[in-house]
Amino acid sequence: MIDLTTSYLGLSLKNPLVASSSPLTGNIDDARRLEDAGIAAIVLPSLFEENISHEQRQLEKFVHSQALGNYEAESYRPVPENYKSELESYLDHLQQLKSSLSIPVIASLNGVSDTGWIDYGKELMQAGADALELNVYYVAADPEQTGEQVENRYITLLNQLREQVNIPVTMKLSSQFSSVANMVKKLQSNGADGVVLFNRFYQPDINLESLKITPRLELSNPEESLLRIRWIALIRSRVELSLAATGGFHDVDSIVKALLAGADVVYLCAVLLEKGPEYCAELLTQLQHWLTENEYESVQQMKGSVSQACVIDPAVYEHSNYIDVIKSYRP
Ligand SMILES: Cc1cc2nc3c(=O)[nH]c(=O)nc-3n(C[C@H](O)[C@H](O)[C@H](O)COP(=O)(O)O)c2cc1C
Repeated sequence: MIDLTTSYLGLSLKNPLVASSSPLTGNIDDARRLEDAGIAAIVLPSLFEENISHEQRQLEKFVHSQALGNYEAESYRPVPENYKSELESYLDHLQQLKSSLSIPVIASLNGVSDTGWIDYGKELMQAGADALELNVYYVAADPEQTGEQVENRYITLLNQLREQVNIPVTMKLSSQFSSVANMVKKLQSNGADGVVLFNRFYQPDINLESLKITPRLELSNPEESLLRIRWIALIRSRVELSLAATGGFHDVDSIVKALLAGADVVYLCAVLLEKGPEYCAELLTQLQHWLTENEYESVQQMKGSVSQACVIDPAVYEHSNYIDVIKSYRP
């Protein structure tokens, strides 16, 4: 029997497939279906700084207008009795999952500012999260802001979170850093237990009839996995923290490649949305089959065996074959 176990953020997982943040992990029935289909861990949809701050502003406005108005009236209620804040609903969902699933549950925080929202990490930990994912979805558009300042924003948030929690923390990054490898190393030195490579930026589009900017959500395509595989292969032997691959992993071949490159786990989202949670079971069967056919005894044995440090020509992961590649084009 092939051993599919892996370790991620210090958690022992029964296999390397993790359900990434998505509406599926935000729904208790779908999360159960994922567990039944063999998924090893799930990451909750993010608790967004933007939503919490918006809600707080609305609440303050509401309480303020009530206070100015008829607060002596019998019907006066500053806040409806059954009102649940964004945070409370999130904590409820987390606790429900923890009591009904036996796999690890990773909570996710998303934000960019240093205005205190990060402190919610402590409540997520107290509600039973096995680890935290910090997703800094930041578009650095200010020409006055240097790359270093942008990077420091990530480090500051990580440090603030580390002060609040003593469970593993992983950071979901975009690929848009001047030096991805250096950034990952800095995060490691500042206490990150892992990184998730890479987040996808959803690109706004211009509607040519209305000339309005329209937000566009398109699911990933399998080609996108190559960027992730390359970077994981490049940094695997240079850092010690856990590596998760996310973005474009739709079939067993790309999952195998990510593991060979050195990923500890592969996150799945679009493929599960498109094919349903049960598809995880099929991917696991195919993964077992691939390992058997290729005479690997375990996922542990294959992990990183085709990382940059292990291949005969390490330069192939960088640029040396660039000219050959462009010359190979045939019209
Ligand atoms: C509908 C939808 C909702 C998502 N919500 C979140 C989220 O709340 N937080 C987060 O970090 N990523 C979120 N993601 C990103 C996914 O977790 C994943 O990283 C990304 O889709 C790339 O993986 P994939 O190619 O397997 O879809 C979402 C993606 C989709 C499609």
